[in-house]
Amino acid sequence: MMRVRGRERHQGFPRAAPDATPTNSGFQVARPALVRSADVGEHYFAKRPQAQSRPGTVDLVLPDLHFRLATDRGMFSPDRVDLGTRVLLDTVPPPPATGDLLDLGCGYGPITLTMAARSPQAIVWGVDVNERALECGWANAQAAGLDNVRFSLDDVIPAGLRFAAIWSNPPIRVGKPALHALLTTWLARLSPGGVAHLVVQKNLGSDSLQRWLGERGWPAERLASRAGYRVLAVRAAENTGQTTDQTEGTP
Ligand SMILES: C[S@@+](CC[C@H](N)C(=O)[O-])C[C@H]1O[C@@H](n2cnc3c(N)ncnc32)[C@H](O)[C@@H]1O
Repeated sequence: MMRVRGRERHQGFPRAAPDATPTNSGFQVARPALVRSADVGEHYFAKRPQAQSRPGTVDLVLPDLHFRLATDRGMFSPDRVDLGTRVLLDTVPPPPATGDLLDLGCGYGPITLTMAARSPQAIVWGVDVNERALECGWANAQAAGLDNVRFSLDDVIPAGLRFAAIWSNPPIRVGKPALHALLTTWLARLSPGGVAHLVVQKNLGSDSLQRWLGERGWPAERLASRAGYRVLAVRAAENTGQTTDQTEGTP
């Protein structure tokens, strides 16, 4: 049975709000209304955000886990856990129990920490370009007592590392060429038999991304469609010889 993380550190959590739902552990949590996060600043993927620091917290409440997460200005969705992230975490199958797992574009870590808690024997890598977000991620892992996470800039992951699973709410707003380059780089690092789960808003091109993935040799199936988001399950390429033209075939 999954442990509820961070309870001992955050005594003030809501326990039995009117919309609370029972869980397998008997622990009751308030399920906040799902709201679409529109707080996607222009520069959430800056390496060193210029926005004045204003620390905050958000609660990530899932049926099996509850984290209170530190956030700040200058990163993705600092006021609430993004709805796409929630949809992913609500619908994705359990991650592999062991091996190296990747959260691509981890931000302050809601996906990284969920993977780490669901697979405590695995090592979970949270990769991002935003140093402020990575600092929050580290603090959040420590507060949750998770020692199987590694937050890193994208260019310091050991080159030979392969991932048994990748979960990502990818940075669509970097633009199609950069997004395709990012996915080409990291999907090539899936282990044989590995699966990547990506959540993408339908309005932001999930269906064309799904087609592009298929054309590039990564068959992608739609695992879930909810609240305007698609969760795509992407299989590791049969061979590792991915082509280098990252934008050809772009819809
Ligand atoms: C949509 S946000 C998701 C953040 C976090 N996973 C969440 O669910 O709240 C995408 C993240 O990708 C990061 N990102 C942008 N370009 C990147 C790159 N080249 N490599 C790694 N991460 C990148 C952004 O800084 C941002 O934190």
